[in-house]
Amino acid sequence: MLQQYEKLKSALSSAKKIVFFTGAGISAESGIPTFRGKDGIWNKMKPDELANFNAFLRNPQIVWDWYQYRKKIVHQASPNHAHLTISEFQNYFDEVLVVTQNVDGFHSRAGSEIVYELHGNIEKNYCIDCGKRFDFENLEIEGKVPKCGCGGLIRPDIVWFGELLPEDAYSLSELAAETCDILFVIGTSALVFPAANIPYIAKKHGKFLVEVNIEKTELSSIVDLSLFGKAGEILPQILQRVKEEKSYGKN
Ligand code: OAD
Repeated sequence: MLQQYEKLKSALSSAKKIVFFTGAGISAESGIPTFRGKDGIWNKMKPDELANFNAFLRNPQIVWDWYQYRKKIVHQASPNHAHLTISEFQNYFDEVLVVTQNVDGFHSRAGSEIVYELHGNIEKNYCIDCGKRFDFENLEIEGKVPKCGCGGLIRPDIVWFGELLPEDAYSLSELAAETCDILFVIGTSALVFPAANIPYIAKKHGKFLVEVNIEKTELSSIVDLSLFGKAGEILPQILQRVKEEKSYGKN
């Protein structure tokens, strides 16, 4: 482990721009279930029936209820040490950007200022007919799927299977991967594309890649450094070393 930190230490000593690419694993310690693996959501539920536009058209109530249920879990939980530590990195580097596949909004709640949400946000909604937005609004009326003034159904602003990613968030994330000094990949299986392109783009541009995960992933063979363990434990250890090296600080 010590040797691994030495490699990272040297990368951190000259780094100005750091990108964190995160997935469901970073919120696992907040009590939000991940998608894959033994206890993963997609092990119990069918994505075709819940995370799919045609499923919403077929049975909007089931899909709406599912997202309200997940929203409730998010409301009952809070950002954990990993989210908070990432936000603290902002005090030590010129630029810290977060590219996340998560829809829980925890990075912003933890204080990260630049967050690109590639798969949407569970607090945001829009009308499927006119596109009117209903962000951060309580739309629940007797549990029914809400309707827009134009009569269209309102859906969660979550990227469902087969849908395009938000263009701005994705192109800004690509740029971040191309121009950063270090890209941390935290708590993602990195199996869902195009989001999972982000670490490969950084690799292609010769950036230093660090993976933090409880187990090996598809990326383990291409990263410069794999740190195995819980994000909420590993990230504070990294930040502690950054703090100890006063020369890394910008103040
Ligand atoms: P996955 O569920 O596929 O992967 C979660 C990853 O987190 C796994 O590699 C775990 O080993 C790791 N992990 C679990 N607990 C951890 C911890 N405490 N610390 C560090 N790592 C931990 O989730 P994603 O990769 O985010 O898309 O999945 C990508 C997309 O697939 C999601 O955004 C979602 C899903 O379908 C949409 O909903 C559009």
